Amino acid sequence: MKPIHIGILGLGTVGGGTFTVLKRNGEEIARRAGRKIVVKMVADKDLKKVRELVGNDAIITDNAHEVTCNPDIDIVVELIGGQTIAKELILEAIAHGKHVVTANKALLANHGTEIFAAARAKGVIVAFEAAVAGGIPIIKALREGLTANRITWIAGIINGTANFILSEMREKGLAFNEVLAQAQKLGYAEADPTYDIEGIDAAHKITLMSAIAFGIPVQFDKVYTEGITKLTSEDIQYAEELGYRIKLLGITKRTEKGIELRVHPTLIPIKRLIANVEGVMNAVVVKGDAVGATLYYGAGAGAEPTASSVIADLVDVARMQTADPMHRVPTLSFQPDLLSDTPMLSMDDVETSYYLRMQVVDKPGVMAEITRILADNHISISAMIQKEASDDSDKVSIIMLTHTTLERSINAAIKGIESLPVVTNQVFRIRIEELNK
Ligand code: HSE
Repeated sequence: MKPIHIGILGLGTVGGGTFTVLKRNGEEIARRAGRKIVVKMVADKDLKKVRELVGNDAIITDNAHEVTCNPDIDIVVELIGGQTIAKELILEAIAHGKHVVTANKALLANHGTEIFAAARAKGVIVAFEAAVAGGIPIIKALREGLTANRITWIAGIINGTANFILSEMREKGLAFNEVLAQAQKLGYAEADPTYDIEGIDAAHKITLMSAIAFGIPVQFDKVYTEGITKLTSEDIQYAEELGYRIKLLGITKRTEKGIELRVHPTLIPIKRLIANVEGVMNAVVVKGDAVGATLYYGAGAGAEPTASSVIADLVDVARMQTADPMHRVPTLSFQPDLLSDTPMLSMDDVETSYYLRMQVVDKPGVMAEITRILADNHISISAMIQKEASDDSDKVSIIMLTHTTLERSINAAIKGIESLPVVTNQVFRIRIEELNK
């Protein structure tokens, strides 16, 4: 069978990894795909860098449009990132009837609906396994392996940089900024590290998974996003004392009222497997009504792990290319004209339990005042610890865990507690997920 010709846009970490793995394992990959996958063109601004890696194996250009418009290219692999030029090039490739493989989570989370519609109109495939959790084949699992299930929830550690920072803070007692600098040096962080530490990158990824899991459009504007910058080493330590580990989780859940879509630091019981995923590793738990809870673990970033997903998509396209578009695996798992308009819930309507940390004056009656406010808001306490101040001050830290309540109720309670004169700082809250139902 005729080889399939690909053009790679962007020969950075993932582009370079894709080229290397295709070259190393090309023969074995061809035995799987049923035809050779040949890198015909590579586009990158840095021609010298490309020449060093690619040599004479492919046509090299610094003009990506030469790839997207070339009639000899079957699949365009977009690994440039960002939402401007990458979007333009993907739409151009689609308009020229080319299939697209991309790792661009930010672009698909924000413009997926438009891009998927353009691809559908042209009968081409847009594949994006590498956009979520690097080398873990989670898109394939959600879209195909779990297709029998009514998925109830997904909870994932889907940003390696944030997980690395939290792991280092816990294990070595280091401060946040120190560890961030280290993560950047190691090359895991996004070009703009605020995407990692403010939860935006995880929000892109959970948005894509939510759409595939529940058969809804991609809705990045509906994600509640909170990062890890306000966490202190003390919170990490207090959580441990209470039997929990803090992870930045992307969560999406189907409830009777609608769909929850959120990213925030989360206390998880230490005994859960996912609580023990450390460093830059990623892990995703998917709960299906038939299969129960399933866990997917692996490298969430890096050249070759991400290339592993890019190439899996290339093989999929090579296999599906000749199939009638109506009989291919649908991009979002559900048939595109059968997506549902299930409402996305606002944070106020989310139900979960909470870790609360507050600083109070150490004198009789303080606890009674605080617990009265919680009771007035129908919030029940499940555990509590009091920590002496390190200096000689008359203040102490109180840490409380609550039973399940509504975010709206905890907000009201926090407001009430903060208005008490004996409470001397803002109440700090972290959501808890038991991940057992
Ligand atoms: N910056 C991302 C992370 C890379 O740290 O997980 C993979 O998307």
